[in-house]
Amino acid sequence: MLCRLSLLSPADRLSAVVQRRNLGSNSLEISRIVFGAMGRSVSSQADRADVVACAIDEGITTIDTAPLYEFGQSESELGRSLSGRRNEVEILSKVGLRWDDNHGDVLFDTGEGSQPRRVVRRDSRPTAIRRDVEESLMRLRTDHLDLVQIHHPDPHVPIAESLEALADLIREGKILHFGFSNFDAALLRDAEEAYATKPKHFRPISNQLHYSLLKRVADEDILPEAKRIGLGLLAYSPLEIGALSDRILEPGPHAIDLVERSVAFRPNNARLLRAAVTDVISPIAAQKSASVSQVSLAWLLHYEPIDGVIVGATTLDQVRANAQAAAITLSPEEFDQIDRHFAAFTLDRTEGYDLKTRLRQKLRRVKGRMNHALGR
Ligand SMILES: NC(=O)c1ccc[n+]([C@@H]2O[C@H](COP(=O)([O-])OP(=O)(O)OC[C@H]3O[C@@H](n4cnc5c(N)ncnc54)[C@H](OP(=O)(O)O)[C@@H]3O)[C@@H](O)[C@H]2O)c1
Repeated sequence: MLCRLSLLSPADRLSAVVQRRNLGSNSLEISRIVFGAMGRSVSSQADRADVVACAIDEGITTIDTAPLYEFGQSESELGRSLSGRRNEVEILSKVGLRWDDNHGDVLFDTGEGSQPRRVVRRDSRPTAIRRDVEESLMRLRTDHLDLVQIHHPDPHVPIAESLEALADLIREGKILHFGFSNFDAALLRDAEEAYATKPKHFRPISNQLHYSLLKRVADEDILPEAKRIGLGLLAYSPLEIGALSDRILEPGPHAIDLVERSVAFRPNNARLLRAAVTDVISPIAAQKSASVSQVSLAWLLHYEPIDGVIVGATTLDQVRANAQAAAITLSPEEFDQIDRHFAAFTLDRTEGYDLKTRLRQKLRRVKGRMNHALGR
């Protein structure tokens, strides 16, 4: 109760209404603002527990986590924070990334300088999926997960095998639903073929993807494909890790930790984004006594294909502000104005990279497009 009783004025209490919605055409109901428990910024366990408690008090009852986040620690802390409140929340976790053996393609490597060094690999084999779920249940101190998402696709494991392992976990009551994360349109189609003949209860229900006013590439194919199949959609990193907030209006250069965590804070991008926010979002925000981050979240909540918006927060004020974004109404004209402006806005995702890194990035994009064209 810490958040509501100690911080909210009566007026705020009335306006803080986070709507709920079914994930796609499925039975799992979520709060439309979802709390992202990845926990980028360092804070104490006590502070984090307060933030989680505040989120629940504000109506943000759906929490997204993963074994990967802080290599298990995030789930363990969340488990402690939810003590006595498990039945008030829906827990969404993930499977399919491991850092404790040499099997599978490398997704990323924390590098030689990190202590301990971790090499994270894709592993969606049935045994790995079962181990992931059982470890998550222990860390989160619960007997079931409401939704489990395959964190990243694993090209070496037939999707039918992974889906069968997840169906078995449903039969055992360890998970209630399963879905995807970071699956492109071609992978969604492959998966659909693999589960088309299964009963509804043993089919995936969702896809989670990076989606924000600055990242709308999924409009082309992932969103329509997911909708056609009946999958719910969860948008992650909706604030571009803080770049779609009032922070972008501060005169640059931005602090090095911001510049390192998002290309949007690099000088040229930040200048262009500041101008776009000043022209389009700030006037709407001012008229509603809202902040840039609240209007950015409100736009996503008004965008029909998106069921839930997974936003991280490191302070009580941020959680309250994010919850209150759900109470903002945008007129169709305001929605369209933001839509048009940001659909035409592109970040230079390689700003500040040296030539070698730029070429590597370009090669990766070309490869991705070729795979896509080839139906892979
Ligand atoms: N499936 C996947 O592969 C994947 C990948 C990434 C993320 N996710 C999920 O998505 C969640 C959110 O992603 P994210 O943390 O990358 O991005 P985000 O939600 O766009 O950004 C969160 C950050 O924005 C700032 N912020 C939050 N509320 C604010 C407010 N009201 N005003 C101003 N600034 C605010 C905070 O930065 P400061 O801490 O600096 O204040 C916070 O840490 C994660 O926790 C995770 O659950 C999933």
